[in-house]
This record gives sequence, C-alpha cells and structure tokens, in this order.
Amino acid sequence: MEKALLIREDGTRVDGRKPDELRPFRMEVGVLENADGSAYIEMGKTKIYAAVYGPKEAHPRHIAQPHRAILQCRYHMATFSVSERKAPGMTRREHELSKVIREALESVLFLEEYPRSMIEVFVEVIQADAGTRTAGLTAASLALADAGIPMADLVAGVAVGKVAGRLVLDLSEEEDKNCEADLPVGMAPSINSIVLLQLNGRLTREEFSEAMRMAKKGIEVLYEAQKKALQKRFAAYGEVTD
Ligand code: CDP
Repeated sequence: MEKALLIREDGTRVDGRKPDELRPFRMEVGVLENADGSAYIEMGKTKIYAAVYGPKEAHPRHIAQPHRAILQCRYHMATFSVSERKAPGMTRREHELSKVIREALESVLFLEEYPRSMIEVFVEVIQADAGTRTAGLTAASLALADAGIPMADLVAGVAVGKVAGRLVLDLSEEEDKNCEADLPVGMAPSINSIVLLQLNGRLTREEFSEAMRMAKKGIEVLYEAQKKALQKRFAAYGEVTD
C-alpha cells in the first residue's frame, strides 16, 4: 500500500481509527491450567499468551544468585504466527525482545526478596500483527500478578509510530511496515516509570514529546483494563466482590 493511503484525507487511518486510538483489545488472566500464573492478550489481530513459573529454586544450581532471584524471560513467535512461516527456533530478534521484556519486568519486581530462586516468564506470540513486544510485556505483567508475585506496579506498553508524516498510536502491521519511525514504550504508570523505550527511525524533539504523551494516554487505558482483568480473576475466588 502507498504510504499516503495509510492516512486518509480526514486524518483517519487505513483501519478507520483516529491517530490516538488503540486497536480493539481484550485481556484475560488465569487462562492456563499448568503455569503458576498466566494471561492472554489481543491487541487487534495480535494474540499472545504469557505464562509464569516461580519463584522456585534456581536450576541449574550454578545460575543461582545468593542475594536475589534471577528472572528468565523467553519471547517466542509461533511458526504460524506470521504470514511467512517462521523457523521454530529462537531468532536474534526473539533474543533481543526477550531481553527488553526481561529488563522492563526487572524494574518492577523485588528480586532481592527471593535469594537463590528463579522466576520464568514465557511470552508466546500466537498471531503477530505488530506491537508484540509491548503487548507481550502487558500480558507478562498480568501473568506475574496472577502468580502472586509482588511488583511495585503493573506494566503496560504500546508503540507510537510516524506514518505518512503523522504520529499514530498502536501501529498495525500494515502501518508498522510502512512507518518512518516506531517508538515502543512500556510504563509502570502508578510509579511514573518508563520501563521500556526503543526508537526505530527518527523523530524531532517535538514529535518525540508528543509521541510519549500519546503512549502514556494509551498505556493508562491498558492499565485500567489490566486492573479490571485481575479483579475479574480474583472475584472468581470470592476475594473481590466488585
Ligand atoms: O512486534 P513488534 O512491533 O514489537 O516488533 P517488530 O520487530 O517491529 O515487528 C513488527 C511486526 O512484524 C511483528 O509484530 C509481526 O507482525 C511482523 N513480523 C513478521 O511478520 N515476521 C517476523 N519474522 C517478524 C516480525
């Protein structure tokens, strides 16, 4: 698709969204039987499961740290998640995204509370339509909360991009492929902390400030939905009546 067609004359996007509008999304907590904590997220056509094990004894034992838990994170895309079949193994990109998601989660976890332990986070992308690192982070944070692991705050993420010269929130893959810049952002809103920030492409200072403002607004919406998803999960146990 030609770049100019990605933004219509009336300023709306190719899928009809306004520039600062998120895709339709859905979150659910406690979706997997066999993990200690789990969550599912859909952001538009992007579909991701996150699963958490731990804290548990670090294994193999030589990786144990005497004063803290180690956090292991694996971001992985299913072979069938993208239009061109992806080899099942871990690519360089998946290693990179595992690292940025791990670092984002480390900034809210109290790892020093669990010496010689480990926490494992698995982010499995079932279907990808852009925004998988940020949606994966949002789901991973929910899965950690579901596992009962204390955190300073939940984290949520969304990307802002520059498409045909305009800043837009929560890129779809069609927009992502044709964008001039892509800024994935993860935040812990209640403690006002930025936990993930990457920039692909170029933005002016003014565009960067505006993009961060748009990301923050989007993240606040996702954050409220995260709290609702957790309340729904625990209401099922009769612990929350709301
Ligand atoms: O997913 P995210 O936007 O965080 O990361 P990206 O590296 O900017 O990838 C953008 C999108 O490209 C992914 O979400 C997929 O939809 C697509 N992609 C793909 O089709 N095949 C791959 N091997 C990797 C990514």
